[in-house]
This record gives sequence, C-alpha cells and structure tokens, in this order.
Amino acid sequence: AFVVTDNCILCKYTDCVAVCPADAFYEGPNFLVISPDDCIDCDLCPVECPADAIYQEDEVPEDQKEFIELNAELAKHWPRITEVKPPLDDAKKWDGVTDKIQYLDT
Ligand code: SF4
Ligand code: F3S
Repeated sequence: AFVVTDNCILCKYTDCVAVCPADAFYEGPNFLVISPDDCIDCDLCPVECPADAIYQEDEVPEDQKEFIELNAELAKHWPRITEVKPPLDDAKKWDGVTDKIQYLDT
C-alpha cells in the first residue's frame, strides 16, 4: 500500500483524493491517511501531491516508518474523503517543515 507521511501534516492539499480509483483516503483535522485495506497500489497519487508526502510502503524514508502503522490505524477511525477541498490556510508556510508529527491532530 501507499503511505501518507509527515509533510502532509498542516498542508492537506487533497489533490491526491481526486485520482484515487479505490477511494482509499481518510481525513483528519490536519492530515490525510491511506487505508492499506483499500489501496490497490495503482501508483497514481504520489505525483499529484504538491508536498511530495506519499510513498510506496517499501520506500517510506527510514525516519518516517512510523507513518506506515499510523496510516493503517487512523484510517479505521477517520471518515473517507473523496472530493478535493482547499488546503489548510497556512499550507504554503508549513510545506517542507520537518517533524510536523508533533502537531498531528487526531
Ligand atoms: Fe489510491 Fe492508487 Fe494512491 Fe493507493 S496508490 S491510495 S489506490 S491513488
Ligand atoms: Fe496530503 Fe499531499 Fe494529499 S499534502 S492531502 S497527501 S495531496
């Protein structure tokens, strides 16, 4: 499955959901996750993300491995999102800031 990682937090551009044929995205207050139960590994979403936050599970950077389990867990609790919406207000400011997991709102 594909995995949403740190740089989505506080940006949440949502361009990714527009291309997903499996409706695999779930939405929290300031982050999106992919359900590994839904993702069919089509590889369409990574290139759509302006924040480059999406990786194939085997290619998640070493320091972000915790996001694999986090995507699976949060997807069980958050509502599905299938429509693009505007990014968060300060998305541009936060894009590229590291270790945003400390601000993750669940
Ligand atoms: Fe959806 Fe494809 Fe991305 Fe999986 S890889 S989340 S199926 S767009
Ligand atoms: Fe997040 Fe990128 Fe989608 S910032 S909401 S993974 S387009």
